[in-house]
Amino acid sequence: MRNPRDFFRPLAIGAPEPLKEVPVKPSRVIHFFDPSNPKMAAKLPELARQADILLGNLEDAIPIDKKEAAREGLIRIAREVDLGDTPLWTRVNSLESPWFLDDMIRIVTEVGERIEVIMVPKVEGPWDIHYVDRLLAQLEARAKLSRPILVHAILETSLGMINVEEICAASPRMQGVSFGPADLAASRRMKTTRVGGGHPAYLVRADPDPKNPEAPRPVAQQDPWHYSIARMVDACTATGALPFYGPFGDISDPLGCEDQFRAAFLLGCVGAWSLHPSQIPIAKKVFSPPPDEVAFARKVMAAMPDGRGVQMIDGKMQDDATWKQCRVMVTLAKMLARKDPELAAAYGFTPEDLREL
Ligand code: GLV
Ligand code: MG
Repeated sequence: MRNPRDFFRPLAIGAPEPLKEVPVKPSRVIHFFDPSNPKMAAKLPELARQADILLGNLEDAIPIDKKEAAREGLIRIAREVDLGDTPLWTRVNSLESPWFLDDMIRIVTEVGERIEVIMVPKVEGPWDIHYVDRLLAQLEARAKLSRPILVHAILETSLGMINVEEICAASPRMQGVSFGPADLAASRRMKTTRVGGGHPAYLVRADPDPKNPEAPRPVAQQDPWHYSIARMVDACTATGALPFYGPFGDISDPLGCEDQFRAAFLLGCVGAWSLHPSQIPIAKKVFSPPPDEVAFARKVMAAMPDGRGVQMIDGKMQDDATWKQCRVMVTLAKMLARKDPELAAAYGFTPEDLREL
């Protein structure tokens, strides 16, 4: 049992108080970059104007002989590169790796003020989050940080999958969870080498036509990730954390990427990763509310300024609850439009509209 009164007390003397709510910010796309690559650092200010979040990756895809260069690169980027108000996150190495402890100590104590969220890979249960939670509190106290660093778990092992609800509820630091189809497929021994998306062999086939048994039988491809993503969305939304789809590996298939992102969006995910700059506009398009829905939500809010009562608008019943749905939509649209002038134009917001959320 954990005393509920302790939940919002710092886990180390001198550490900042835990947050009660996950901050809501533009988070349609988490763009991954390799901090060991100096050419990449030069491109970051431009990428910061495009992506909602930039993430310096220290884990998989960074070769062993570049692990330290990636960590040093991230520290230098955090100190020196102007990313405007685009948040900087990092994905540290996994808990059992020889790099995790130094990743945490160096990053939190040297550039902790600049890092909003630490993504922790291969989280298997609440015990992993408890460990990171206490360690972060100790390091935040040492670094005298004024706000807590949040934690984002990657859901990419079968043990993590069966514990996802407890992972989300393990700490008020839990900002969100990303779905990791590559490691999850490996952990489950799924027979696929793809990173996300469908598989042509995962299908259902119609019965033979008794009158014409040799005729081709229609098939429909199924979604191998549906159960896992839906369960992750429930675990996150039940605890106030944010669900994200992770990587789509086939960079040469933008349509497959868009379809995978949209399936995740429709199930409730708020954003996805981009592994290549060409995936940034795909994620932004998919995870931004459609302009016609925003226009309708603004109409409802204009017709019901205090958000109470009942009205028919375009033949649809509106009440206190639908007004709140509309407010969620308009607030998100304004937040995104502040960052994205093209979107502001598509939504028809004036600078005056965007002054207040
Ligand atoms: C992401 O890290 C994945 O394994 O898919
Ligand atoms: Mg992975």
